Amino acid sequence: MPDKMENFDERIPEIVLNSGYKMPVVGLGGASHPMPLVEQLESIFVDAMENGYRHFDTAACYGSEEALGKAVAKALEIGVINSRDELFITSKLWCTEAHHDLVLPALNQTLGKLGLEYLDLYLIHWPVRVKHGASTFNFAKDEILPFDIHGTWKAMEECSKLGLTKSIGLSNFTCEKISKLLENATIPPAVNQVEMNVGWQQRKLVPFCKEKGIRICAWSPLGAYGSFWGTNAVMENSILQEIAASKSMTVAQVALKWIYQQGASLIVKSFNKERMKQNIQIFDWELTEEEMDRILQIPQSRGFGGDMFIHPTGPYKSVEELWDGDI
Ligand SMILES: NC(=O)c1ccc[n+]([C@@H]2O[C@H](COP(=O)([O-])OP(=O)(O)OC[C@H]3O[C@@H](n4cnc5c(N)ncnc54)[C@H](OP(=O)(O)O)[C@@H]3O)[C@@H](O)[C@H]2O)c1
Repeated sequence: MPDKMENFDERIPEIVLNSGYKMPVVGLGGASHPMPLVEQLESIFVDAMENGYRHFDTAACYGSEEALGKAVAKALEIGVINSRDELFITSKLWCTEAHHDLVLPALNQTLGKLGLEYLDLYLIHWPVRVKHGASTFNFAKDEILPFDIHGTWKAMEECSKLGLTKSIGLSNFTCEKISKLLENATIPPAVNQVEMNVGWQQRKLVPFCKEKGIRICAWSPLGAYGSFWGTNAVMENSILQEIAASKSMTVAQVALKWIYQQGASLIVKSFNKERMKQNIQIFDWELTEEEMDRILQIPQSRGFGGDMFIHPTGPYKSVEELWDGDI
């Protein structure tokens, strides 16, 4: 049986969300292309738990829910964890299910795949609605429908009230869309999961969400280095390389630490044992003010524009409209 205390030094700090529930500040990403086979992925997730990860990020559209569920069962069986409550599991509502009456069935399907009674966090994956039954990624542009922000959120609130998810939140929402949602919300979103890294620092959204009590959780914190949707803007940045060398840290560690020092949480994906260990060794050292100032000089651009949701006759006619000008 693995020694549960062997990674005690790498315990990941937790923060308290506005829902009152705790969330570990670093989670393991569950998106990959290609995706490993279910058995391989199950063992990757168990490795992560053995190495101290307790927060896992998946989504209905990733194809990793089933493996994550199997990993939870395995970790309980072999004693890596004592109870499912020790974990923080996030999943997301895909655009084809972002219709008021389809949210609860979608969450139930996700829970079924995971083999869990509840999620810790359920997110609206995008402020986008696609015709029900359309292909997950290859939907026709005319299948993109106007997003029903209030109806979708109301259904998310109902899921929360049913106890099927402890917290509810958003992903890829701008300040403007959050403001609109808050006009009618009875439960405020706990989290907004967005692209954030040294190359896209979210300088508008971070202070806005902080003021509203919504925790930012960064996706692609390493710029999705090596993924088809990624860039080298983080991992090959010379400022980061210099800071990393001077501190005997890796570029990845500096990039992740910068996010943490912004007061945000992060989801980092590595399916490699050594790199997943490295990515959580960021809590017993600091970036200095001078180093933070240097990182502020890095040129800014969004990595993922969301082109798949843009159409001249659709609800978002340009990338600017999707992001309300914040590009
Ligand atoms: N809400 C959304 O719309 C959304 C969008 C995108 C992603 N996400 C979530 O956020 C997670 C993380 O984002 P991401 O996967 O896009 O990108 P990421 O975590 O920034 O980067 C992952 C890439 O970096 C590599 N990597 C990881 N650690 C490394 C290290 N220490 N040194 C060198 N390379 C390293 C990984 O390869 P190895 O695996 O080989 O280490 C992988 O190719 C996703 O998995 C997903 O759960 C959410």
